[in-house]
Amino acid sequence: MHIDDLRSTDSATIDRASVVLVDAFRGISAAWPDLDAARAEVVEALTPGQLVRVARDDEGAVLGWIGGIPTYDGRVWEVHSLAVAPAHQRRGVGRALLADLEDRVRERGGLTLWLGADDEVGRTSLGGVDPYPDLLGALAGMRNITEHPFEFYLKCGFVLAGIVPDANGWGRPDILMAKRVSGARTGAGADASRPGGPV
Ligand SMILES: CC(C)(COP(=O)(O)OP(=O)(O)OC[C@H]1O[C@@H](n2cnc3c(N)ncnc32)[C@H](O)[C@@H]1OP(=O)(O)O)[C@@H](O)C(=O)NCCC(=O)NCCS
Repeated sequence: MHIDDLRSTDSATIDRASVVLVDAFRGISAAWPDLDAARAEVVEALTPGQLVRVARDDEGAVLGWIGGIPTYDGRVWEVHSLAVAPAHQRRGVGRALLADLEDRVRERGGLTLWLGADDEVGRTSLGGVDPYPDLLGALAGMRNITEHPFEFYLKCGFVLAGIVPDANGWGRPDILMAKRVSGARTGAGADASRPGGPV
């Protein structure tokens, strides 16, 4: 498997990445119902300053892709989107794409990766539930019902960071997750005399 940049001039790969997006999210999200919607998403991900990385097999077939968007002046990057072709899932492609994005973000001075993993169709125990008033308690007790990807992200070192209730309509939340990708403690607020400070 090779992972490299998706170029905005490479329309053949943009088309293949669009197919992967539609296929990967079929039945679990209404976000990309067809190739036109998916292509618009891939093209938007190619906005200058953002990252789009593509995983291919030795024959050049697109296995999956990941996008990263800088926020907070580049200190925090959003994972948006991540999709692995259904035929190639559970073979380490998603983990490799995330690890690659972490490296690229670290190279650019980023400290944190975060993402929102929607639950649009009751894939977690929070689907169809009113999580108020104890949002964090509801999040702490969340269980996976039908392979919601939060467990994939936990296995890749992310932690639960929050919940956006009703993000996709009543009882259909977005699950927020985060991961520190750089251990260096520098800049405002850093204190070299405390444990964990710069070395
Ligand atoms: C979620 C997704 C990106 C994972 O990619 P993948 O290549 O299938 O995952 P990997 O093979 O790298 O899995 C790494 C680990 O996570 C686990 N895992 C993967 N998907 C999982 C899921 N949906 N639920 C629970 N565990 C999962 C794997 O079993 C593996 O565990 P292990 O290390 O104990 O063997 C991929 O399945 C996908 O594209 N799904 C549809 C779209 C989607 O949900 N994207 C994320 C939106 S936030």
